[in-house]
Amino acid sequence: LEQAKRQSVIWMSFQECTGCTEALLRSHAPSIESLMFDFISLDYHHTLQAASGEAAERAREEAMHANAGDYLLLVDGSIPTIKACSTIAGISNLDMLLETASGASAILAIGTCAAYGGLPKAAPNPTQAMSVEELITDKPIVNIPGCPPLPLAITGVIAHYLTMGALPELDHLGRPLSFFGENIHDRCYRRPFYDRGLFAETFDDEGARKGWCLYKLGCKAPETYNACAHVKWNQGVSFPIQSGHGCIGCSEPNFWDKGGIYDSV
Ligand code: SF4
Ligand code: F3S
Repeated sequence: LEQAKRQSVIWMSFQECTGCTEALLRSHAPSIESLMFDFISLDYHHTLQAASGEAAERAREEAMHANAGDYLLLVDGSIPTIKACSTIAGISNLDMLLETASGASAILAIGTCAAYGGLPKAAPNPTQAMSVEELITDKPIVNIPGCPPLPLAITGVIAHYLTMGALPELDHLGRPLSFFGENIHDRCYRRPFYDRGLFAETFDDEGARKGWCLYKLGCKAPETYNACAHVKWNQGVSFPIQSGHGCIGCSEPNFWDKGGIYDSV
């Protein structure tokens, strides 16, 4: 990584909750500080940039011009195709995505909203939201889903791109295999209880207190591919199942409409 050049990065936020940025700030290997100060030039990011208003938009335009064909575009949030639903500096999200994507070398769709449409696309989809890959078909795209994604999955893919000069190997849903190649259920520390048929029946029964499997409480991890069970959150401290709540499959396409955990309880 130390040999890598400083890469121009433009981060666009559309229909999102800022959870992806919150996740980004919690990465520790590499940390966002290390990336920003040593390896990337984060030229545009609504939440993190010092500039605002016209100066912010000027920074985006200057970065696009100076690094045409060579900047990395990161997107969080889905894109409303009813243009009036969301604008930045008077430009619709859709037009800004198309314009900014045109000069990018590659795009990372950060979070389930950018990768698959996420919550804004859930029925009845009032903004006619779409994902990045539904709208951009002529650029290499990596999907890094999760609501929000694992911090290390975001910075890990950036680090891979900087060091290898190429995008990582992807699965059939455009996700990096290094983070999404394994099923959470197969790496879950409660799996021995599942295999022995020991299940919590309610969130406060004896089984729950003993750490038994949460499958009967709606855990969706057997259908979910992500690195939560071994990479974990907050520098490896915990993940949803470890804090007593089943996985809701937040990194899978259409997870909300497919039925969250409460439909099973
Ligand atoms: Fe599998 Fe979920 Fe049970 Fe863990 S809690 S063993 S992931 S069903
Ligand atoms: Fe999401 Fe399930 Fe991980 S809910 S954060 S994919 S454990």
